[in-house]
Amino acid sequence: MDSSAEQRRFWDNHALSWDPSAAVETDDTTPLLDFLAALAGDGPALELGIGTGRIAVPLYRRGVSVAGIDVSPGMIKVLHDTVSAEEIPATVGSMASADAPGRDYRLVYVIANAISCLVYQDEQIACFQNAARHLRPGGHLVISLWVPQLRELPLGQTLVAGTVTDTKWIIDSYDIVAQRVVSHHFTVDGDRVIGSRGSQHR
Ligand SMILES: C[S@@+](CC[C@H](N)C(=O)[O-])C[C@H]1O[C@@H](n2cnc3c(N)ncnc32)[C@H](O)[C@@H]1O
Repeated sequence: MDSSAEQRRFWDNHALSWDPSAAVETDDTTPLLDFLAALAGDGPALELGIGTGRIAVPLYRRGVSVAGIDVSPGMIKVLHDTVSAEEIPATVGSMASADAPGRDYRLVYVIANAISCLVYQDEQIACFQNAARHLRPGGHLVISLWVPQLRELPLGQTLVAGTVTDTKWIIDSYDIVAQRVVSHHFTVDGDRVIGSRGSQHR
């Protein structure tokens, strides 16, 4: 089973509203960057689901050699509006199967829930195998993943408001039996609310 075409549709669309200036180190990202940099040394490091480089760019700016894989050409375009493809090379393809240049990575990392974009279990297993293929012996695999907020679900309801600010709403809908979450993103622009097809997670 392969969910990458559906993910590509969502993330290509999502990339249009992404702010490339967000690819800088902030107080929020410093602890994660410290952690990844300590494991990576001078690299190389490989980010699966690199997106627009929110973490990869500041990691690179700290002196770590970084490459990436992402299913969305739109997200990679935003990345390469910020840094060149020579600085951070990125391969378009599924993190479950795509090849990045080299097989000697000290660190492979999959963060910010990217692993849950693989909605079939065999894809998730293939992703771990793909990570192992790219790592050098003794290298590290780091995964960060949110904890589904099942206890926030009122009895019989399926919706949880993730983020609700003046400019952004994220509403998650849960299918507990199928162990799926669809994350619906809305941007508030003055009196208009712009929605996009929900991103699938498992
Ligand atoms: C929540 S974003 C995280 C982006 C980045 N890791 C960050 O921390 O900002 C998830 C990323 O995973 C990518 N993605 C989704 N499914 C994928 C797949 N099957 N293979 C590779 N990348 C995928 C999306 O295009 C998106 O860039």
